[in-house]
Amino acid sequence: MTLTQKTANARRLAERAVARCRTLASFSEDAGSLRRTFLSPPMRDVHREIASWLAPLGMKARIDAVGNLRAIYPAIDPSAARLLIGSHLDTVPNAGIYDGMLGVVLAVALLEGLEGRHLPYAIEVIGFSEEEGVRFGIPFIGSRALVGRIDDELLNKSDAAGASVQEAIEQFGLNLAEIQQDVLDNDACAYLEFHIEQGPVLENVGRALGVVGAIAGQTRMDFVFTGLANHAGTTPMNLRFDAMAGAAEWIIAVERTAKNTPGLVATVGSVETRPGATNVIAGEVRATLDVRHSNDDQRNRAVEQISCASQDIARARGLSVSVNTRMNQPAVPMDATLVAQIERAIHDVGCEPHRMGSGAGHDAMILAEKVPSAMIFLRTPNGISHDPTESVSVADVAKAIECGLQLLDQLSSHPLFQPRTLRA
Ligand code: GLV
Ligand code: MN
Ligand code: MN
Repeated sequence: MTLTQKTANARRLAERAVARCRTLASFSEDAGSLRRTFLSPPMRDVHREIASWLAPLGMKARIDAVGNLRAIYPAIDPSAARLLIGSHLDTVPNAGIYDGMLGVVLAVALLEGLEGRHLPYAIEVIGFSEEEGVRFGIPFIGSRALVGRIDDELLNKSDAAGASVQEAIEQFGLNLAEIQQDVLDNDACAYLEFHIEQGPVLENVGRALGVVGAIAGQTRMDFVFTGLANHAGTTPMNLRFDAMAGAAEWIIAVERTAKNTPGLVATVGSVETRPGATNVIAGEVRATLDVRHSNDDQRNRAVEQISCASQDIARARGLSVSVNTRMNQPAVPMDATLVAQIERAIHDVGCEPHRMGSGAGHDAMILAEKVPSAMIFLRTPNGISHDPTESVSVADVAKAIECGLQLLDQLSSHPLFQPRTLRA
């Protein structure tokens, strides 16, 4: 194939990939905006739609015990290694249409780009059921299943309606007893994830594609400030135990800690007050905390500081505070060999690779526990994500496809991707 043909094909696949992201975004729990949480009804439509793209490739999609969509594109040799390519299919509320979905759509586009060719290794397309942590406050349920990290503590977590993870799985018609079969076997040799950058760095350096060196560690916690609900008109200011004012002071302390710690980001993204009326002093405030840093010690120190601040502020105001840690995920370096291969592929399709950290969490950080994992980032216009204005340029998607196809060919001669009998 000539260079012009390759470029034209990548452009055609990119246009289809963007259209497919739009189609997937039409399957939502909310009218007028995109929200698709773990095993929610529209996830079935998404599965059906993706299965219809895979069928012409001769691939049969299956849904595993935690709702991940999985399908295998066989290798030339049945004893071959298997490369996983994918991302997640769940979204945040009022989401953009590319976070996660683009990675799954691009996995399918790469297989289409092979035009019937099979490689020395198999490729498993994977659409993870849950990465965002919206429904149960715990992210990565989909990828945790592949590394054997679905435990009773996770299965017993409940959503806002009181349903547990286990119940959600059963209600979707899945069989938890099969969960052991989801864990990756020795044939899985690597994981590759395409994802929008979700930040302004690539745009700022003027590059279409980036390669992730490491993914920042993150801690997610809940803080509950308890005071005394009382009448807003009759209770003098000096005789109040206002949980809202305490939480507000703490939120500013969170911001201050992050601003004073280079590289740290800390967010109180959700606050719920009880009873939640204009003329009632808040008796209880529940707030979430999300803290991230590429250095685990710095993150742990900041979490300690933020927790101490909540105690100090509560004590000074006659409130109490309880703290619950939902998740503590260390920073994860990506596989050095794959990173180097990706950089070479980006370079060979005429782009300048940019090595960068990821502040966002990704399924790759979980898969890295079991297989060499790596990520390719696509430039995100205006750096906006987790918002309906999230976008990509078709030209950058086409470059990602060209780079992906180049990478698949490069890996065909790499020792890690050879049939079992030839592997070291
Ligand atoms: C996933 O989007 C995250 O919160 O990092
Ligand atoms: Mn994502
Ligand atoms: Mn996200």
